[in-house]
Amino acid sequence: QKRIKIKDLLVSKEYGSEVNVKGWVRTKRGNKQINFVALNDGSTINNIQIVVDVPNFNEDLLKKITTGAAISVQGKLIESAGSGQSVELEATTIEVLGVADPEKYPLQPKKHSLEFLREKAHLRFRTNTFSAVFRIRHAMAFAVHEFFNKKGFFYMHTPLITGSDAEGAGEMFRVSTLDAKNPPLNEDGTINYKEDFFGKETNLTVSGQLEGELGAMALGEIYTFGPTFRAENSNTTRHLAEFWMIEPEMAFYDLKDNMDLAEEFLKYMIKYALDNCMTDLEFLSKRLQEEEKGKKADERSMELIEKLRFVLDNDFVRLTYTEAIDILRNSKPNKKKKFQYLIDGWGADLQSEHERYLVEKKFEKPVILTDYPKEIKSFYMKQNDDGKTVGAMDILFPGIGEIVGGSQREEDYDKLTARMKEMGVPAEEMDWYLDTRRFGSATHSGFGLGFERMMLFVTGMGNIRDVIPFPRTPKNAEF
Ligand code: 4AD
Ligand code: MG
Repeated sequence: QKRIKIKDLLVSKEYGSEVNVKGWVRTKRGNKQINFVALNDGSTINNIQIVVDVPNFNEDLLKKITTGAAISVQGKLIESAGSGQSVELEATTIEVLGVADPEKYPLQPKKHSLEFLREKAHLRFRTNTFSAVFRIRHAMAFAVHEFFNKKGFFYMHTPLITGSDAEGAGEMFRVSTLDAKNPPLNEDGTINYKEDFFGKETNLTVSGQLEGELGAMALGEIYTFGPTFRAENSNTTRHLAEFWMIEPEMAFYDLKDNMDLAEEFLKYMIKYALDNCMTDLEFLSKRLQEEEKGKKADERSMELIEKLRFVLDNDFVRLTYTEAIDILRNSKPNKKKKFQYLIDGWGADLQSEHERYLVEKKFEKPVILTDYPKEIKSFYMKQNDDGKTVGAMDILFPGIGEIVGGSQREEDYDKLTARMKEMGVPAEEMDWYLDTRRFGSATHSGFGLGFERMMLFVTGMGNIRDVIPFPRTPKNAEF
């Protein structure tokens, strides 16, 4: 008999038909006459209830049906007597494919804390919460490709091993085959990378943008979607050392076109989740509400699905960095005190408390901030006529902070190289990049969306470690 996935089975309602399901046992309960086994195969958050007429089965076999065991069940679909599901499976034959010793299996048929499950990260896929999160992650990745494919963008694969620092922030993981304890040295005592695998110093990429710009200046509109690596030592709920980024890059787009695309893209992903992942979203929403039960009413956040719909239905607020600073300087986040830190001077980077104030208190909507001081942004951004700001855009989301970073790019060769010199970016090693400005340069723009930050927003999860299957953070690279 052909195996049917539980997701398909629950909607088929072909009562009386014989089917086979395979999956992992969530719970077993019952008495000497009848057992009820909740079985899950990962295709949906819902379990199928297996009805076992105990006297018809071998006692030893039934003993092996414990939480975590893999079983295959042959049976007849029947209408459910209880409330819950409409379909149950009346077992005719059961095969135990793999036992899970209850003395040793770490997952109990109860709710575990997220902290506990992070310790058991290799098994957490077996829980409702994480299976829901990772099904949504799949759907979100699919939505990325669907969105750009519909718009005629080309998916471009950029290298993971690079010889340049796209962000110029020096937060890179070195890739080297040299003997770490005893590397070959130059006469001045520095490491001699000529003897390294690539004959030069190489690192894991922090962003595919620079290579993406080469693609955009030939194919018109491209996007990348791949892992990026940052050796920044930030142990926060928003940072990973290895995260996935989507980076569209478009020829002939200015900053406004860039913002319009980013807003449309983010809304597309949210709509895709609402249209395709409702069962999982409802589960996560309920989970979140339970978690917030103890909180005071004014501390509780908006219900998850309501929050997604709200962002979908409202325009993002757009304002310049300078306007934002003015707002913050005149705001009192906690009745008594103003944002002291910002009163001291224009030019400082926004701290997360400022970002949160803007999106959660002042506007209660996503905010696109543009035209940041050039000192706090990357070398490649378009220099504005005021000589002080660049055509940057960051998108801030409620509960998350920065979710997108992007800009119009400096297309003028002289201005770009002058800025690189000022910032100590080695232009002589980036001739390949500068050729885009030497030959057929044009207005172009792009941005990067942190995929896991988007996942945080869509799932309502609070820690970025819980929306990527195998998180990489400082001092943590298990598996
Ligand atoms: O603002 P960032 O550093 O921008 C870039 O890398 C540009 N090259 C993008 C572009 O214009 N093509 O990073 C972009 C986004 C951030 O807004 C954030 O969502 C995410 O990437 N991000 C991280 N996500 C998780 N962990 C980290 N350590 C992250 N650093 C950035
Ligand atoms: Mg940024």
